[in-house]
Amino acid sequence: MRSIAIDGPSGAGKSTIARIAAKRLGFIYVDTGAIYRAVGLFAKMNNAGSKDSEAVGALLQKIKIDIKYDEAGVQHMILNGEDVSESIRTPEVSIYASDVSAMPAVRAFLLGMQRDLAERYDVIMDGRDIGTVVLPNASVKIFLTASPEARARRRFLELLEKGAACSYEEVLSDMQYRDKNDSSREIAPLKPAPDSVFLDTTEKTLEESIEEVLRIITERLGL
Ligand code: DC
Repeated sequence: MRSIAIDGPSGAGKSTIARIAAKRLGFIYVDTGAIYRAVGLFAKMNNAGSKDSEAVGALLQKIKIDIKYDEAGVQHMILNGEDVSESIRTPEVSIYASDVSAMPAVRAFLLGMQRDLAERYDVIMDGRDIGTVVLPNASVKIFLTASPEARARRRFLELLEKGAACSYEEVLSDMQYRDKNDSSREIAPLKPAPDSVFLDTTEKTLEESIEEVLRIITERLGL
């Protein structure tokens, strides 16, 4: 099976770009952030503190996470039988996801599931540690980033479109919190794999970024 790892901070455009690229290539798109979000949501629902590793660790045995794909190829997160694809997208769950993802027990719990998908399908997987930890032998690795302001602006517009009531400043500050959290944790921190292609999309439109990512992938895979 072939696998493509796309890592980078939140708001860099990973999921939009990976989803479109996967469709064009006929690969499955795996959004690993959504899996951490499902764990974060479960912790929040059960009133475990987002940094309480003992409480979150104890909850893991009660979590069953499934990933399903609809006819359009869109990934759905199923948490204990319930489709939580919408409810994992709130700013509060973003912070929870970032906090619980720093816990070694949570990362160990989700590692097998991610590797298993890559063994069964051709995948484009996006996250923070795909090229460094989850799929160190991925056929192509891309590190996608953009300035914090550009990323916050994109995320803010996305949330506005969904009708969320939040300010640009709130989005930027949540993003800076997560950047710091995700990059400074001891286990599987966000960092480019040494053999990844670095792509900064600050000055690029979405279309330009997609073309560039597709160019890198087709070139590397010899398609
Ligand atoms: O990609 P996202 O913003 O939906 O991810 C939510 C959080 O999950 C993010 O702040 C860090 C964590 N995460 C991770 O630690 N490792 C991954 N491979 C993907 C996400």
